[in-house]
Amino acid sequence: MSRTVYVNGSFVPEEDAKVSVFDRGFLFADGVYEVTSVLGGKLIDFAGHAKRLERSLNELDMAAPCTMDELLKIHRELVRLNEVDEGLVYLQVTRGAADRDFVFPEGVAPTLVLFTQSKTLIDSPAAKKGAKIISIEDIRWGRRDIKTVQLLYPSMGKMMAKAAGADDAWLVEDGFVTEGTSNNAYIVKNGRIITRQLSTDILHGITRAAVLRFAREAQMEVEERPFTIEEAMDADEAFTTSASAFVMPVVSVDGAELGDGTPGPVAKRLREIYLDESQKVAV
Ligand code: PDD
Repeated sequence: MSRTVYVNGSFVPEEDAKVSVFDRGFLFADGVYEVTSVLGGKLIDFAGHAKRLERSLNELDMAAPCTMDELLKIHRELVRLNEVDEGLVYLQVTRGAADRDFVFPEGVAPTLVLFTQSKTLIDSPAAKKGAKIISIEDIRWGRRDIKTVQLLYPSMGKMMAKAAGADDAWLVEDGFVTEGTSNNAYIVKNGRIITRQLSTDILHGITRAAVLRFAREAQMEVEERPFTIEEAMDADEAFTTSASAFVMPVVSVDGAELGDGTPGPVAKRLREIYLDESQKVAV
């Protein structure tokens, strides 16, 4: 069955979907995106993703392609048309197509593209095993709070991890972990959950916000501050959060095994709470 995708107002078979070669997303990475997970055919934390999308658009002076209510309808219709039970909706907005010029064009309609990917997320073998992490230098630009499509370095980071026999990389700047290549990073020491505070240095994860709220509601201690790789190597456990992997336990950092080298109790508990609670309010 051919997948149906959404491009600028139309639901079309993926092989018929077209975007201009002059699109600024293609030429300048002048675009922003969101990834929303789908469980049981419903969207997880759509409101959070819509709000962050609006913020990314505002920060870049980019026009919104439609209202957030319309976006919700498009998400739902795409999930329905593709019969997605478990998986993701990817959304991208670019500044649109115009003759190549570094200066932003005026009066150009934004490009809006959405597609779905069906994927097993809850019973993921990777989450049962836990992830091995390496550390690499964070050489990304200074506005990581804006969810742009400039993903070459995160992609290279995943390749460096793969070459080192690991699953993912954590990015380190001035001696402190910023975040993972495509997730937020956490360590747990003596029952306390430690994760970097929000700033322009990291993406303000939608999963992060929910997980920290659930952790505090469950009376777990949370400390928002930067931590080093040395601290991570000495932690009792660690994990990452993202819309595509929820809470992913981390079992080693730069070759140092954490705890007994299997997913830790805090990560496992938070994963369960997140899956339960987020599905209760899914739309
Ligand atoms: N990545 N940090 C970075 C650099 C990310 O790319 C992501 C998400 C996160 C987690 O944010 P959220 O909880 O809102 O998904 C943190 C998505 C999933 C991706 O690029 O596929």
